[in-house]
Amino acid sequence: MNQGSQGNQGGRRSQGKEGSQGSEFAEKTLHSHPAVVASDKPLLDISNLRVQFPTRSGVFDAVRGVSFTLGRERLGIVGESGSGKSLTGRSILRLIRPPGVVTADAIKPNGENLLACTEKRMRDVRGRHISMIMQDLRFSLNPVMRVGEQIMEACAVHGRYRRKETRRRALEMLEAVSIRDPERVFRAYPHEVSGGMGQRIMIAMMLVPNPDVLIADEPTSALDVTVQTQVLSIMDRLVSELGMGLIFISHDLNLVSAFCDRVLIMYAGRVVESCRADSLHEATHPYTRGLLESLPQLNQPRSRLAVLTRDPAWLDEPVDSP
Ligand SMILES: Nc1ncnc2c1ncn2[C@@H]1O[C@H](COP(=O)(O)OP(=O)(O)O)[C@@H](O)[C@H]1O
Ligand SMILES: [Mg+2]
Repeated sequence: MNQGSQGNQGGRRSQGKEGSQGSEFAEKTLHSHPAVVASDKPLLDISNLRVQFPTRSGVFDAVRGVSFTLGRERLGIVGESGSGKSLTGRSILRLIRPPGVVTADAIKPNGENLLACTEKRMRDVRGRHISMIMQDLRFSLNPVMRVGEQIMEACAVHGRYRRKETRRRALEMLEAVSIRDPERVFRAYPHEVSGGMGQRIMIAMMLVPNPDVLIADEPTSALDVTVQTQVLSIMDRLVSELGMGLIFISHDLNLVSAFCDRVLIMYAGRVVESCRADSLHEATHPYTRGLLESLPQLNQPRSRLAVLTRDPAWLDEPVDSP
């Protein structure tokens, strides 16, 4: 199969990985990327992003100076639970509730600083320019509203399409995420669909307004491998065909290595390492090495898995950019 490498952030990998769902994906769905237009202009520029929560014992720094740019690429963010991945994604869209405080030197899609925007402007940015698929579905779908109405409402906010056109696009997107009977799902309430289908509905909903950037927070963690592969290939297509930028948050290193172009590794609210996804397995930072070594390997049985050790020096050491 032709392995395309026309994305501006470098090539894809052809060989699968053992021992994870990543290999399944790599083998089944990696394909060439003919339509990606290389562009040097980033879709998103994040500089010195911080998220703080006041607590009784002082300020808790949950995200501590994260900086990166996103092009028309698949950018993975990995790290153990609590490392600040979700907060990074949510703070880009200013979805951190008080008393949480977000600061940054820049959160800029297309040069506009979102921290200086009005809430009205933010509502326009959300969905139309940047969409996010949340990790926890319970906060995303309204239980007392039919799926179709929710999709229509989400689109009406952005006013990009007429009602009939929105409905057509909504049904098309439901179909695009492998929902075989979109008309039925359109009329269903969230409790009438399975978790996997709910996740696909969320993805469809985020895609209807056709955003430039999609932030997907563990979008496939709750799905079985077959559905996961379908969902990943849908997102893959969006990046390659529509030139969308994707931030793919995951704790699955093998999956990210197979699916993404570039990876940021987060530890304790900071990016400790950044590398090309296809060289993730040669990463050098001891934290990343620890994460890799604590992965189970199906082809190398071990009596015990390595336990991740942490060095306090990682908390504040400078980060080498790729
Ligand atoms: N509303 C909040 N108040 C206080 N601490 C929070 C809040 N939300 C998240 N945190 C803390 O911030 C850290 C990073 O959270 P999160 O970004 O959700 O991690 P991840 O997605 O990497 O698992 C965690 O230690 C979490 O407990
Ligand atoms: Mg999270």
